[in-house]
Amino acid sequence: MIRNADAPWSAFAPDAYIDINYRISGEVDLEIVRLMRDHFSRCFGGAAAHSARGVDVGAGPNLYPALAMLPWCDKITLLEYALPNVAYLERQASGEGFDPVWDAFWEVLVKDPAYRAVEPRKRFGEIVRVERANLFDLEDWQRWDMGTMCFVAESMTECPAEFERGVRAFMKVLEAGAPFAAAFMKESEGYIVKGIRYPAFRVAAEGVREIMGEYADDLVVHDLHHTVREGHEGMLLALGRRKSNCF
Ligand SMILES: C[S@@+](CC[C@H](N)C(=O)[O-])C[C@H]1O[C@@H](n2cnc3c(N)ncnc32)[C@H](O)[C@@H]1O
Repeated sequence: MIRNADAPWSAFAPDAYIDINYRISGEVDLEIVRLMRDHFSRCFGGAAAHSARGVDVGAGPNLYPALAMLPWCDKITLLEYALPNVAYLERQASGEGFDPVWDAFWEVLVKDPAYRAVEPRKRFGEIVRVERANLFDLEDWQRWDMGTMCFVAESMTECPAEFERGVRAFMKVLEAGAPFAAAFMKESEGYIVKGIRYPAFRVAAEGVREIMGEYADDLVVHDLHHTVREGHEGMLLALGRRKSNCF
């Protein structure tokens, strides 16, 4: 069984990962972005608040979770473990503006008026900060007012206990009432990036519901039946708010 510490994260190739997953924006990712947008907009009552502190855990080379948090936050922290991904994210948040590959996702977000009021490149550069962090080591960090974690807890280990610990670690960094979105590859057998195989834990909707339900109010797990490659059975998107009585 491949555990998290066994996988070659320092060799993770962000450009190859983007080519496989995001260069051509797939229907299912656009659907996830739409569902996140509507969830956050509903939680904040549709009026851009600009004062929340947001976190994306295991951000990797994916900007759409941070873009989905943009109108609601005055600071967004991208936590990531693999150094090549940290470098990629730092470049995206530098003054030059993020890569055009992310524009297709922004086009979905701006269908909501709260997002329309935001100039995404300027705001992303102003409020996004990148920090190297291990998901298993977040106890001493602050808590955040909203959060996302996409394709991380199940896509970093084959070990059931580490998957569960990863989900719990994410839920524990959220303040009471914090809106969250977490995406999972369903029944994934692992994935290959630039010839290197990365581990995955096979999870289905019930497994996500069981753990997240302990920490979440109004939990909805969307079971999205689109596949993007062989070796998985779709994607899961969990939306809800952090419960207040279980820290
Ligand atoms: C499948 S990728 C997902 C990346 C991105 N969130 C996305 O939506 O495409 C898994 C990510 O988990 C990160 N990761 C692996 N182990 C980690 C750990 N212990 N703590 C934090 N992140 C970790 C990897 O570096 C990688 O960026």
